[in-house]
Amino acid sequence: MKPRLEDEVIWHDVECGGYSADLALWRELAASANAGAIIDVGAGSGRVALDLGLNGYEVVAVELEPKLAAALAARADGLNIAVENIDARKMTLGRRFPLCLIPMQTIQLFEPADRKKILEVLADHLEVGGRLAIALAGPLEGFDPGLVAGLLPIPDLREVDGIVYASQPVAVRVGPQASAIERVRRRVSVDGSVQESVDVVELHHLSADELESEGLSLGLTPCQRREIPETDEHIASTVVVLQLSPA
Ligand SMILES: C[S@@+](CC[C@H](N)C(=O)[O-])C[C@H]1O[C@@H](n2cnc3c(N)ncnc32)[C@H](O)[C@@H]1O
Repeated sequence: MKPRLEDEVIWHDVECGGYSADLALWRELAASANAGAIIDVGAGSGRVALDLGLNGYEVVAVELEPKLAAALAARADGLNIAVENIDARKMTLGRRFPLCLIPMQTIQLFEPADRKKILEVLADHLEVGGRLAIALAGPLEGFDPGLVAGLLPIPDLREVDGIVYASQPVAVRVGPQASAIERVRRRVSVDGSVQESVDVVELHHLSADELESEGLSLGLTPCQRREIPETDEHIASTVVVLQLSPA
């Protein structure tokens, strides 16, 4: 019998697992990397790492949350994926990589000082000429403050062991430095009982121009910008690609 999934993993799967619009780009970057492993920073329950692993790439998946890292390790059985349950800000893997990915706006979870720390650490893990590709959310700061129901996507839904998990974004609250994305999570049992909770994720505002200039100060030269169009459920994003220059 399969072990029961932890709620943290299920919610992560519900809210992130269904997004696939960026996968073709990560595969394309992986295909053009020199032979060698790819780092997936903030790998979560494995959406990107597993896709790359299934496509034959070696991946080092870095994830802070122990339950997500454990679920990913179980799912990666038989694939060339090493899971590191560590804080990316303190990562010392002792080797260099041709490609490092930070998908799905994970970079915007960090305060500017922590973001600088992550960029420094990742620059230390890249081969010369190696690339760091970072996804940024489309501009949230252009949204009107408060509830913006007309712009909100439809709920993410998943059924696990007879329980329906539904996560509905209900507000984007725009602040001067960051925007808070508020979701109502509902867990509906077969007997119709509903458990409801609110989850808030804060994304720091960060433009592609700012990120490229932060990269340049660390010897990371901008080499590409790619756009991922919006989908019915997810806003558009820009992927900034930075390349480690020779010292
Ligand atoms: C938005 S989710 C993205 C998950 C996955 N990359 C995807 O695209 O589906 C961000 C992930 O980054 C992880 N994370 C946050 N801070 C981290 C840190 N300091 N080091 C490693 N992982 C971190 C979170 O636990 C979460 O799983």
